[in-house]
Amino acid sequence: MTEPRVVHTIAGIRDEVQHARARGARVALVPTMGALHAGHLALVRRARELADVVVVSIFVNPLQFGPNEDFERYPRTLDADLTALDDLADLVFAPSAAEMYPSGPTQTRVTGGEVAELLDGASRPGHFDGMLTVVAKLLNIVQPHFAMFGQKDAQQVFLVRQMVTDLNLPVSIEAVETVREGDGLALSSRNGFLDGQARKAAVVLSVALADAAAAAHDGASAALAAGLERVDAVSGASGATVKLDYLAIVDPQTFRSVAEAYRGPAIALIAARVGETRLIDNASVVIG
Ligand code: PAF
Repeated sequence: MTEPRVVHTIAGIRDEVQHARARGARVALVPTMGALHAGHLALVRRARELADVVVVSIFVNPLQFGPNEDFERYPRTLDADLTALDDLADLVFAPSAAEMYPSGPTQTRVTGGEVAELLDGASRPGHFDGMLTVVAKLLNIVQPHFAMFGQKDAQQVFLVRQMVTDLNLPVSIEAVETVREGDGLALSSRNGFLDGQARKAAVVLSVALADAAAAAHDGASAALAAGLERVDAVSGASGATVKLDYLAIVDPQTFRSVAEAYRGPAIALIAARVGETRLIDNASVVIG
């Protein structure tokens, strides 16, 4: 069994990657906040297909959590994460907050503009700018050829791609399909917060998306109506509170809600609080 080498400093990971690049190796970065699950491991496996050296970063980034969010209780499971990465990753970059932000939160931020204010950005002000800022830092620190992101966070993938294009960053962004439980629940590090009833009710996100996809041939409004109907039905019937944050259908090119006349591929996105836990999910749909 090969254990990944764990590096805690920026100088240390730069040194490792520079040596790898100097011998012609292709490098992939999988940025994570730890609490690794099978969805993360799918990213790592895809990274392994693309690159010779796979770096997984594990850093719970304070900049992307709002004041009343779950930064403090976000799961931190470094030992289990390292075990999960045996034979999969070459290097784990696990910096402290002081290593990443030696003078406290950075004055300089990357902002995602209008799309960063929509949907999850509207519910979590500042979240995407904090995320983009740390991703820009990680890309600059590691300087990989590839960086891997889960399609479950579709708005994050869109904004990272936009940043890479806008700032001419020399990295290829790879999105990897969402990994799901048997009943359709998208894997998330936050699923561990769901108790029995909430866990059962949480399937509503993927089921509402499936209903929206099935109704999408009749247009965007029909798709939204079908998804909403499902959320209402499950909210009424389940023992756990399900509070819808948004259900939206966006154009994959712009990430703006599609007009009723829109026909073609789109992304249906949902966010809901199930019990105390906020979950998101999305699915590709074809309108018309
Ligand atoms: O998706 C995540 O886990 C985080 O947003 C990321 C990309 C690791 C940045 O902190």
